[in-house]
Amino acid sequence: YLTPLLVPPVMPRAGTAVLRGGKNADVYEVSVRQVVQQVLPAPLPATTVWAYGPTAAAARKAVLLHHSPSLTIEADWRRPVRVRWVNELTDDAGGYLPHLLPVDPTLHWANPPGGATGRDGRPTFTEVPGPYLGPVPLTTHVHGAVGVGDESDGYPEAWYLPAAVDVPADHATHGTWYEFFRAKAAARFGLEWSPGSATFQYPNDHRASTLWFHDHTLGMTRVNVYAGPAGFYLVRGGPEGDDAVLDARTATRAVLPGPAPRATDPRPRPYREIPLAIQDRTFTADGALFYPDTRAYFDGTVGPYVPEGDVPPIWNPEFFGNAIMVNGHTWPYLDVEQRRYRLRLLNGCNSRFLILDFSAIPGADVWQIGTEGGFLAAPVHVSGTLGGHLLLAPAERADLVVDLTGVPAGSWVLRNLGPDEPFGGGEPDEDFDVADPDTTGQILQLRVVAATSPDTTTPPQFLVLPAVAPLVPTVARRVALVEEMSTAPELAEDPPPVAAMLGTVDAAGHWSTAAWSEAVTEAPAVGTTELWEIYNTTADAHPIHVHDVHFQVVERGPVVIDEEAQTVLPAGGTRQPEPNERGWKDTVIAYPGEVTRIRMRFGQPGQFVWHCHIVEHEDNEMMRPMRVGPPQP
Ligand code: C2O
Ligand code: CU
Repeated sequence: YLTPLLVPPVMPRAGTAVLRGGKNADVYEVSVRQVVQQVLPAPLPATTVWAYGPTAAAARKAVLLHHSPSLTIEADWRRPVRVRWVNELTDDAGGYLPHLLPVDPTLHWANPPGGATGRDGRPTFTEVPGPYLGPVPLTTHVHGAVGVGDESDGYPEAWYLPAAVDVPADHATHGTWYEFFRAKAAARFGLEWSPGSATFQYPNDHRASTLWFHDHTLGMTRVNVYAGPAGFYLVRGGPEGDDAVLDARTATRAVLPGPAPRATDPRPRPYREIPLAIQDRTFTADGALFYPDTRAYFDGTVGPYVPEGDVPPIWNPEFFGNAIMVNGHTWPYLDVEQRRYRLRLLNGCNSRFLILDFSAIPGADVWQIGTEGGFLAAPVHVSGTLGGHLLLAPAERADLVVDLTGVPAGSWVLRNLGPDEPFGGGEPDEDFDVADPDTTGQILQLRVVAATSPDTTTPPQFLVLPAVAPLVPTVARRVALVEEMSTAPELAEDPPPVAAMLGTVDAAGHWSTAAWSEAVTEAPAVGTTELWEIYNTTADAHPIHVHDVHFQVVERGPVVIDEEAQTVLPAGGTRQPEPNERGWKDTVIAYPGEVTRIRMRFGQPGQFVWHCHIVEHEDNEMMRPMRVGPPQP
């Protein structure tokens, strides 16, 4: 605990624009660059990462700052935001920079060279010369943004290369959907996309919420995001947003101990707010990011580069780092006072489920007030109801009020009890071993001192949060999570999965999987509210994310799985969602051996995706296109 926690500053705007129809929008220009960052504490070596930051034009007088995670985009409710996302992975001479990490060219991936001969245009397993070293495709998705047009969603096949001087002539410079969306952005918003970039527009007309943005390129999201490009995107305001809710002049203020508030009282100050992006990483001795470049087998050994068989030679089914990074530094400390803080947590790990243990901080009283899609219907007592444990799957967010008023002065560590391996549900020490208590079992150190001024914020248990009106679905849809195993004879012992797949389930419970490249099977009509039943036939929990909606978790229930017949049917009985899932979400944990039911309204027509947010799974077929409304022309 040698480095102070960095609170990412606000991303500077490049300006404002008047949109067609007269609305004002905030305009940003954000690029991804390769930079050197002191991720490990000095004098350990610095780390080369990729990071979002304002372009030279947008930074103006502000310091030009590319950092991983990014400066935070602050958006106002119902005020559109327009971002020109620039791929600046180039060197000083304008040449392209190769990937920092090994790219497996046998997955279904962006594949800029084109012309390969394998299934879906990929090279066959025996043809692969090694990791891809060409220019890097990127595209950006604002995770949790609702009502965004598909041209602005960061579709995995709408990636683009940097506008570099040395991109070989036989390279495609953008993905197959890029031109289509470019034309659409021009027609819809009058936007011109310049080479090496795309300009997206976000309406921000959903509830105030904690969103984040990250790369979403087909088959490379795991290595692109691991290299660094990710950041917070906070939407504020609105009738169900921060100002309305956290202004403590609520009816319940009168029940607080002490004199009732008077109209002349100073406006209570908002909670001190700190976003925390938690990510696991592994570093080499010289400080570089490490990501495996060969298959690691289930016994933990790393295999040779094996281009034979049907298992991708580089891809691994999950990645677990041995170090914890918060806001871009390993194991930072945070100076705090004995008062209330609003912590916006993001699990930004590739595969790791976190179980944050607040019970190890004596006197801390923790309440969860929001989740991915904004405020919960009521504050949930993490320290009471949830036993002090907060489970966060990859991509999930939690909006917390952490009351440190009663915490003794001193240094306290926020611990993690989640496993250093895939998560299957259950409790620490019963169903899984907890993280290594000396490394990944620790997140952040709080250095607590006495408050320097009285805390006038509302104790979180008295917050009156906006209601969450239940959606009423009119269409039901059954989908499946399935792992497909290798059939290669040399891997017959302990065969690793070839892919985690998504699929559909028919009325008789029979599942059929579909690859990314196959025709759309999830095609909700515009304006329809659907109930999705997500049947998990695998042995692990998967965080399922649906683009462009916020959904409600209805219930979960056990299933009966017949592997031979490939059927999965409800076994009867259900359980309610956890108390901290009773709000608007965009990512939900689907537990093994269960069906998870969610409901959501599809308001925006277009071509989107839904996928598992274990990004290693997402990159190897656990992602499907989803088309809202009529087929694209
Ligand atoms: Cu956080 Cu489809 O992504
Ligand atoms: Cu998964």
